[in-house]
Amino acid sequence: MSLLIELEAVKTGALAVFAAAQDLPGLDQAKGSILGAEGRFTALLKQMGALPKEDRPAMGKALNVAKVEIEGALASRRAELEIKAALPKEPTDFTLPGRRRGLGRLHPLTLVTDDIIRAFRKLGFAVADGPEIEDERHCFDALNTPADHPARDSQDTFFVDAPGRPLLRTHTSSVQIRVMEKMPPPIRIVVPGRVFRRDNADATHNPTFHQIEGLYVDRGVTVGDLKGTVEAVFREVLGNDVKLRFRPHYFSYTEPSLEIDFTNALVRKLGKEWLEIAGCGMVHPQVFENVGYDPEVWSGWAFGFGIERIAMLRYGITDIRLFYENDVRFLRQF
Ligand code: DAH
Repeated sequence: MSLLIELEAVKTGALAVFAAAQDLPGLDQAKGSILGAEGRFTALLKQMGALPKEDRPAMGKALNVAKVEIEGALASRRAELEIKAALPKEPTDFTLPGRRRGLGRLHPLTLVTDDIIRAFRKLGFAVADGPEIEDERHCFDALNTPADHPARDSQDTFFVDAPGRPLLRTHTSSVQIRVMEKMPPPIRIVVPGRVFRRDNADATHNPTFHQIEGLYVDRGVTVGDLKGTVEAVFREVLGNDVKLRFRPHYFSYTEPSLEIDFTNALVRKLGKEWLEIAGCGMVHPQVFENVGYDPEVWSGWAFGFGIERIAMLRYGITDIRLFYENDVRFLRQF
């Protein structure tokens, strides 16, 4: 049975050439030399016909067993070489520094808001919050804003098409009412938040912007407390060369009402003398009545700052729309 001995040799040779193949084309070539039309294994098959009839079953069986073994070896070497082909050709340098992911950072409006809040916290103020979708009572009526007041003009207010005529709050003053309805005096809060007005966007206006509201209610509160507090906070947020000016104004929910003008080196560089930066005043007795506080016992002041205005002054930004465009070339500067 020299054919069986030859088969053993062919099988051993096949396993050796597969193991010796260093890449996939090499393996294909090795496969051809064993299993191809001219291959050594194929040549053995062809010799079957010349065998005596009684020897054929045993030889056939041996050939089948050998073929399974040869194909198994071929497949496992192929799997190895495929993994090798997928690895990078150059050795990896594991000492190279990793690729850094860009770190996000806080939006300039958030930075300014946080600074203002920090300054007020030092003075004992807490942060309060209220809904952006409001009703007329909290945004206007309880703030003593009569129905024919210009601030109620539908030109200024976005109404929501839903029962009860909800609206997008035009100022954070609505939260004064929400807080006083819920809590008894004394009160010391600041309220940062987004507000909405029907305005066309230009360099100084945007239909949505941000305010920070303040409310201080206690016994014997004076305009002097208001000025001292506001001045201390602005110095802390915008620097020591800040000057403030309080001018008489009108708001329905304060009496007296004041507007705060601001100046510093930057304002003068922009060619202006003063910039309006906030409204404020002593809480109107009617507002206290509206929330069930006794105006004979309690007094207080309130203010509303525009956060964008302050951020523009702080960073020398001349177009408010830059805050909302989310251009990273702008944002990464803060
Ligand atoms: N709500 C006013 C505005 O949107 C700002 C303001 C003025 C708030 C006087 C107050 C205040 O709390 O007392 O322009």
